[in-house]
Amino acid sequence: MNTSSLPRIAVLATGGTIAGSAGDASKTAGYRAGVVGVDKLLDAVPALGSVARIHAEQIASIDSKDMSAALWTTLGRRIDALLVRDDIDGVVVTHGTDTLEETAYLLHLTVKSTKPVVLTAAMRPSTALSADGPLNLLNAVTVAASKDAAGKGVLVAFNNQIHCARDVTKTSTYAVDAFRSPETGVLGFVQDGRVEFQRIALRPHTASSEFALSEQWPMVEIVTSYADASRVTVDALVAAGVKGIVVAGTGNGSMHAGLTQALVDAVKRGVAVVRASRVGSGHVMRNGAANDDALGTVSAGSLNPYKARVLLMLALAAEVSDLQRVFDVY
Ligand code: SIN
Repeated sequence: MNTSSLPRIAVLATGGTIAGSAGDASKTAGYRAGVVGVDKLLDAVPALGSVARIHAEQIASIDSKDMSAALWTTLGRRIDALLVRDDIDGVVVTHGTDTLEETAYLLHLTVKSTKPVVLTAAMRPSTALSADGPLNLLNAVTVAASKDAAGKGVLVAFNNQIHCARDVTKTSTYAVDAFRSPETGVLGFVQDGRVEFQRIALRPHTASSEFALSEQWPMVEIVTSYADASRVTVDALVAAGVKGIVVAGTGNGSMHAGLTQALVDAVKRGVAVVRASRVGSGHVMRNGAANDDALGTVSAGSLNPYKARVLLMLALAAEVSDLQRVFDVY
């Protein structure tokens, strides 16, 4: 086969269970994430050679629970530097499943290219019986090598499905179909070399996003509302100099009375407060379960608290003043 005409895809490895290793092949929970190098991951998938020419880089070797904003900046800058090159047609990022949705959304809003960027991961370590990483990696490279994936924003290829970075979320601690896009559904499918898109995401992203990576990320934290929630956490965050707080509220972003007064006090001290929901799907409507006009808060719409935090960090780093517009548009 003449491979010189195949698309050239950069595979950037960051760690995760896809690069996990356990002493016993029957172990799918007790293992070390992020210990297998990118070359070994690629060697496990000989079929990649007929899909793309691969350029591999090890960006990090972490369990994604330890993802940091500084690493987001390193990763995003590397992706941008690769995608301006004429000899790179797309990027695949291998990642842990735990914070994949946050990294994917951050890249969706900051990558300055219309070339495909596809994240993938695995629920079972590379040493497990029926490890899901190799097929997920093959499918992610297949999507990144597809001309149809260009201009669709950052994508997540997982378990034969293609998700939009904005909408996808992890929904299971163990299942190999752990990812869902609860409000919108999948964008398409990838199977046996065939990439099929059935929808596109309409909100701005990548080259049409107003946001950029930062070296100085503002402090933005998440607090949760629940029975008997008090103001202690919010007061501590304000004392620590927090710039933004996302509330993972009950139901439609409602907040315990004990928390609400602390958040109103925080708003008066210049802290941006965004109401999201801990429910896992649905929208938080402005002036719905709480009066945002009166409280000085912003509603997160259909973003979950973790994605709302990413958008709030980007908006505060960009010194955006009309925060509700940002949450309505992105
Ligand atoms: C991680 O997120 O790095 C560990 C868990 C996983 O990848 O499934």
